[in-house]
This record gives sequence, structure tokens and C-alpha cells, in this order.
Amino acid sequence: MSQQHLAAPADETAVATVAQHRDWWRGAVIYQVYPRSFADSNGDGMGDLEGVRARLPYLRDLGVDAVWLSPFYASPQADAGYDVADYRAVDPMFGNLLDADALIRDAHGLGLRIIVDLVPNHSSDQHEWFKRALAEGPGSPLRERYHFRPGKGKNGELPPNDWESIFGGPAWTRVTEPDGTPGEWYLHLFAPEQPDFNWEHPAVGDEFRSILRFWLDMGVDGFRIDVAHGLVKAEGLPDLGDHDQLKLLGNDVMPFFDQDGVHEVYRQWRTVLDEYAGDRIFVAEAWTPTVERTAHYVRPDELHQAFNFQYLSTDWDADELRVVIDRTLDAMRPVGAPATWVLSNHDVTRHATRFANPPGLGTQIRTEGDRALGLRRARAATLLMLALPGSAYLYQGEELGLPDVVDLPDEVRQDPAYFRGAGQDGFRDGCRVPIPWTRTGSSYGFGTGGSWLPQPANWGELSVEAQTGDPHSTLELYRAALAARREHPSLGAGESLEWLPAPDGVLSFRRGEFVCVANTTTTPVTVPSPGRVLLTSGEVTTTGTETTLPADTTVWWTTA
Ligand code: GLC
Repeated sequence: MSQQHLAAPADETAVATVAQHRDWWRGAVIYQVYPRSFADSNGDGMGDLEGVRARLPYLRDLGVDAVWLSPFYASPQADAGYDVADYRAVDPMFGNLLDADALIRDAHGLGLRIIVDLVPNHSSDQHEWFKRALAEGPGSPLRERYHFRPGKGKNGELPPNDWESIFGGPAWTRVTEPDGTPGEWYLHLFAPEQPDFNWEHPAVGDEFRSILRFWLDMGVDGFRIDVAHGLVKAEGLPDLGDHDQLKLLGNDVMPFFDQDGVHEVYRQWRTVLDEYAGDRIFVAEAWTPTVERTAHYVRPDELHQAFNFQYLSTDWDADELRVVIDRTLDAMRPVGAPATWVLSNHDVTRHATRFANPPGLGTQIRTEGDRALGLRRARAATLLMLALPGSAYLYQGEELGLPDVVDLPDEVRQDPAYFRGAGQDGFRDGCRVPIPWTRTGSSYGFGTGGSWLPQPANWGELSVEAQTGDPHSTLELYRAALAARREHPSLGAGESLEWLPAPDGVLSFRRGEFVCVANTTTTPVTVPSPGRVLLTSGEVTTTGTETTLPADTTVWWTTA
């Protein structure tokens, strides 16, 4: 299927070096690279794998343990690469398989692990299987690998059921049959260019186990599983009925999400992964109604980690944060999986902008808000997150304190959800703007040929160059926090914390020899100093045995 030839398997010694400590992932800090927007090596305005490879030393110096790459496979880019036409090929706009091989090897040489994104819920409509299914017409066995159905209504003119696409509009599209007549419909939970696979068909499972092996043989250290909760649909594809799908999403088990049948898929995948040396992992993108249901995905014979979207969706509020932290730890403990924490990714408004706006607005925000406030809170939220037991996910650019770009002109937007409207809001381009590396230059060091989404005029001041060496910069805060986690592995380890008494709106907890206090209120608070200050997100004042934290500030102390 692949047009590119296979790179040689990665050097086993390099993999072995990187895999020195078992269970590395339990307390790992994993950095998400969005390849389009990280670094452009060939001046076409679009990031690429060679750009990522050239910047690996930056990531090593930042202090992360692993890099998760969003999809770089052959794709028509109807959903920025989450529509895959060939799972074993690199899209020419990102490079080729040799570049992927070089990237994996270099990362391993620097002690970084590589996690790739796997998209098993749907393919691109340009995938060979789907194109042939269309061409062969109704009754073709290839149609059984997707969800093709006749329409309802007198002439089949109505969709087979009432499900809506997550991006808005019906979850079904009617095809024109090879003889030119309007024919069957196919299911796509996302864009029409992303037909859903039928996971009841054995060929689908066989193909994905083979794809896993392809990338494991290339030497990757793990997979982030896209829409991990979506693969299996309720039998008979039942109507939702008189329900508001948007309200139910994320709050209830849906006939197309979080069905118990998905777990069998992951049990099979786990046996494949476990055949390989090197402590490799799966992380699930599973939007479930509760963190308790998320825990099902990380039972001992399934996946290793799952994103904690309940945490990501929590406002900057001490009481709410404490509830979600406790629930997460309580849910993960019985299954023996580490908690994970995340504040930003390529699908939500960056947390510096979320926290700049009033609480309760959700994760898709279109207004800039109070930027200084947002940044102060983002820094405090990051230090809080990095003091929690478990693994943390960072999204490229958050270490620069980047805000979302809320004023992109409509004509440059590419998010398919934006064009389908009324679905997942569709403002995801704002967090995908290429990141600034240097103070000046055509795209602030992103590349020599501009950038596929325009960067704001002040982006140079937020660049890696501008922030490096400035002790007050957000970049240096991240570097210091990650260095402390490396120096004191117990900071990320373990599965519990001890809450300490604290004033209203303040979170205070102990983890071994560390104490973390986060003031989420709008006024300063004074607390007894438990030891020596290790790191702070803002200026604190210590007088005698007490320390005063300004509004929206987090402090780490060591009592050793
Ligand atoms: C996941 C991805 C998102 C994509 C969707 C469909 O949620 O994170 O970017 O649009 O899946 O693949």
C-alpha cells in the first residue's frame, strides 16, 4: 500500500538505551508536537519532520521525556492529517519514511522517546479501501469494512439514523453509485472525508495490528490513540431519539462512543505491544462521561495511560480542582495506572487564553480576555499540574505562554469543524498557529517561507530566543520545573498526595519532601513556610516563618 520504501528497523541499541528505566511513562512529561506548526525545514510555510528533528535538542534541554507527534501520514489534510489515506507512508508535505526513521533515531540518541498518533476510528475517504468500496458499488464486501447503509424514506433520501457529526451536520453522507444514481449512505462521526471503520469486520482489526507492528518495527515508543472511545458502535446503530446530542456528548454513554466492546480491541493490541522490548506504551484519547469510565481503558491488560479531559476542562478554581484531582487518583489507583494531567492540546483553546476569560465558558473560547491574568494563571496552573503524581502532557508553545490567536481571518481557517458549524465550535485553528523561535524573521524562525496560519505581530517577543535566559520568562519557568522533576523523580512519581489545611481558594498538599501551594484567589494569601522555596510562578515574599503568595500563584517548597 505504501508508495515509500521501508526504512531499516531502528537500531536496537539506541532503543535499549532509551528504555533503560522501566515504567518510565508513569511519571513522564510528554510534549505534543503538532508537526504542521512546529518547525519548517524547507521553507514551504508548513512544518515537517526534518524541522522537528532539528529542534530535538531544544526539547531535550527543555527537559521532557517523550514527544508525541500528531499525524504526519499520507493524507489529503481534510482534518489536518487526522484523515489518513495510507497509515504506512509519510505525507510528502512532512517528508518521507527515511525522515521518520532519522527522527526516531536522533530522538533516542538524545534520550527522548517518540510516540506516534494512530487514527483507527476512521480513515480518509481517499484511503484505498474506501475508494474501492465506492467503486465496487452496493453489496461489495469492501463496503463491510465501513458502515454503509441504505437511507430511510421512500427513496432512501434520509440518513439511516439521527446521529450528528461531532463537527456539526449529519453523521451520514449519501454516495453517488458507480452508475450515477444516488445510493447508500456511509457513517462519519467527524468530517465526510473521514468515513468510520466497521470494527466488527475482522479485516479492520488485522490491518491495525499490522500497522502497529509497522511502526513498532520502526522503533517508536508508543501510540496515542485517536478517538479511542469511538471504534465500536452500539449494535444496530440505534437512533439517539429525542436527545440533544451536544449536551449528551461527554456527559453520557452514547451509542457511538465509549461502548464496552472497545476494550476487547485494546486487549488484543496490548498483546502485540508486549511482544516488543523497550517498555512501549499506548495513551488513549478517550472522551468519556467520567474519570471512572476513563479508568476502564487503562486496566492492566489494556492501555497504559488515558488523557484526563476532566482535568483539562476544569476552571481555575481550588474546590473544583481538588475534586477532580481526588477523583482521578481514586479512579486510577484500583487499576494501577498512573494519573495523567493536561491543560492544552491541538483541539482546545490554549489555557493561557481560557484562564484569561471568565470561568464556565468551556474549552472553545473566541475572546482574548485579560492576557496578563491568563498568563499568570496559566503559569500557576502549570506548576500545580507538574507537582501532581503521574504523567503530564504539554502542548507545543505552552512553554512560551502562547495565547490562542482569536482573530484569524475566516479565509485562512482550515478547521473542518469551523466550516460545518454548530458542532465542536470549530475554532481550533487558534491554537495551531506556528510557534515563534526567534525575535525576527519571516515567521519568527518557524521557517524561511512564512507560515500556513499567520502569526500575530507581537509573536517575536514570545519567541524561544526572546525568553531564553530571562529568569521571569515562562520558558525558563518550564525549564526550571522540568529540571526539578528530573532532579527529584519523586515529584512525578507515586499515586497519592496528602492535602494540608489551607485558606479558602488555596490548594496545599504534600508529596514526600515537597509541598505545593496554589493560590487560585484574586487576593494575596499568607501561609506558614514549610521549608525552602524551590520554585514559584510569581513573586512571593517571605517574612520570618511565613510566605505571602500573590493572587494566582503557585509555589513549590522542599522540606529536605
Ligand atoms: C481527535 C483529534 C482531532 C480530530 C478528531 C478526528 O479528537 O484530536 O484533532 O479532529 O480526533 O480525528
